Amino acid sequence: MQEEPNNEQAGEEEEFPYRTEFKKKSIRSYVIRGGRMTEGQRNAFDNYWGTFGLSLYDGAINPAEVFGGAAPVVLEIGFGMGDSLLEMTKAEQDKNFIGIEVHPPGVGRLINNAGKEEVKNLRVYMADAIDVLNDCIPDASLDRFQLYFPDPWHKKKHNKRRIVQPEFVKLLCSKLKPGALMHMATDWENYAEQMLEVLEAEDMLENTAGKGQYSPRPEFRPQTKFERRGERLGHGVWDLLYKRK
Ligand SMILES: C[S@@+](CC[C@H](N)C(=O)[O-])C[C@H]1O[C@@H](n2cnc3c(N)ncnc32)[C@H](O)[C@@H]1O
Repeated sequence: MQEEPNNEQAGEEEEFPYRTEFKKKSIRSYVIRGGRMTEGQRNAFDNYWGTFGLSLYDGAINPAEVFGGAAPVVLEIGFGMGDSLLEMTKAEQDKNFIGIEVHPPGVGRLINNAGKEEVKNLRVYMADAIDVLNDCIPDASLDRFQLYFPDPWHKKKHNKRRIVQPEFVKLLCSKLKPGALMHMATDWENYAEQMLEVLEAEDMLENTAGKGQYSPRPEFRPQTKFERRGERLGHGVWDLLYKRK
C-alpha cells in the first residue's frame, strides 16, 4: 500500500486517479512537477493504462507472464516523453521492453502512442525506479539496461541526487543476466566522468570499449529529446557500454 499521500501531486484534479508510485526516501533523483497534461495524455490513462501499466505495489513480476511469452527483456529508466523508447520497441520486436518514469505527462504520451500503434512488447511503471528495481524486477532477469540523459543535478550541492551512484549500479548488476548489456548516455561531461568512475569501479562489469573508454553511440539507440536539447546548447554526448560478467 501507499505509505503516504503523494502531496506533490495534490494540485491535480481529484478525478484523475493515476498517481506516481514511490516510497519514502531521503534523497530522490527527481522532482515530480505538476506538469500540465494534454487531453490526449490524460485520456491515454483511461484508454491504455490497463494494457501497458504495471504497479509497484503488485511486487515481483515474471516477465514471461507479463508479456505473454519469453523474450529478452530490456529495462529503461527515465524515458522522459518516451519517443525514443517507442521507436526501440518497434525496431526490436524480438525483445520485451519495460519503461520506468515518474513524470505523468511523459507516461501519458508514451502509452497513447504505443496504444494507437498497437505495440505489444512494452510495459510501463509510473514509479520511482529504485523502488521498482528493489520490489518488482527479479534478480538476473534483464538482458539490457538503459539510462539516457538522466537529470544532471549539476550544482555541486545537488550532485548527491544523481541516480548513478555505486549502490545503484550494484543493484542494477544484480538484476542483469550474465553477459547482459548496461548502457548509459549523458550530455554533461562531468556526469559522464562520474558514470565512468562508478562503472569502472564495479567488479561485476566489463567495459566493452576497453578500460576507461567511452563508446560510440550504438545503432540501437535513437536520438532522444534531451540529447537534441543538449545539442542545441552545444553539449557533447558520451555513451558508456558495459557487459555484466
Ligand atoms: C533529463 S530527463 C531525460 C529523458 C529521456 N531519457 C531523454 O533523453 O529525453 C530524465 C528523466 O528521468 C526521470 N527520472 C529521474 N529519476 C527517476 C527515478 N528514480 N525513477 C523514474 N524516473 C526518473 C525524470 O522524471 C526525467 O523524465
